[in-house]
Amino acid sequence: MTKIDLKRLPVHIAIIMDGNGRWAKKRNLARIFGHQKGILTVRRIIKNCRKLGIKILTLYAFSQENWKRPNHEVTLLMDLLKEYLLTEMPELIKNNIRLHAIGDLKNLPKEVYQILIHTIQKTKDQDKMLLNLALSYGGRDEIIKAVRKISIDYKNKGHSPEEITEKVFSEYLTTRGIPDPDLLIRTSGEMRLSNFLLWQMAYTEIYVTKVLWPDFKKRDLDRALISYQKRERRFGLTSEQVKKGLTI
Ligand code: FPP
Repeated sequence: MTKIDLKRLPVHIAIIMDGNGRWAKKRNLARIFGHQKGILTVRRIIKNCRKLGIKILTLYAFSQENWKRPNHEVTLLMDLLKEYLLTEMPELIKNNIRLHAIGDLKNLPKEVYQILIHTIQKTKDQDKMLLNLALSYGGRDEIIKAVRKISIDYKNKGHSPEEITEKVFSEYLTTRGIPDPDLLIRTSGEMRLSNFLLWQMAYTEIYVTKVLWPDFKKRDLDRALISYQKRERRFGLTSEQVKKGLTI
């Protein structure tokens, strides 16, 4: 296999961790076993990314639409998340990883929310890697909330709408201060964005693998990175312009 060029790594990787349910179904197990196994993959991939020197990893752990799943699955997922946060905190601290979260966090069960905020606080000065969990997250909802906030702010300050630039608008999103993802990995073969980071992924390179999330290993991450490094990111420019070093 081609080697990864460590000097050309994506700064920010986002992952849609799909296929836990199918992994369990294939083994005649309840879906929650797929999620449990999925957590092991989460731990493994965080470690792999940290070792490689990836600066930001955003994981789509729970979407706003996921609340509509059967109650028992939602409850079990929240229990898993709570357990994960409790057991992972020492690991995050040991590995100098800062935790951040985006989404409608107030919708999370109170206990999960409190542990999450506590872990974010505890790890706020760590700087080797940023682990960003998307929880109760919806891209359209994030944009609408940003529009509401920016309208109120601009009205109160008497600013003109013309002053709203893409850069200004980005500051109103929950990802403020975080560069857009360079690479999106989606497991289990589905070719869609599922309401994930809609604004932020305008120029993100997309890599889809058929591998189900619980089976996703270091070699699969390496494959995604190699595919990313083979691409020419043009951001709407021509290939010739990019070769001359022009950027947007
Ligand atoms: C998609 O699989 C996965 C989810 C909806 C949840 C992802 C959650 C985890 C990996 C565990 C919790 C994460 C953290 C960070 C603690 P699916 O259930 O939609 O699978 P299917 O499409 O095969 O049914």
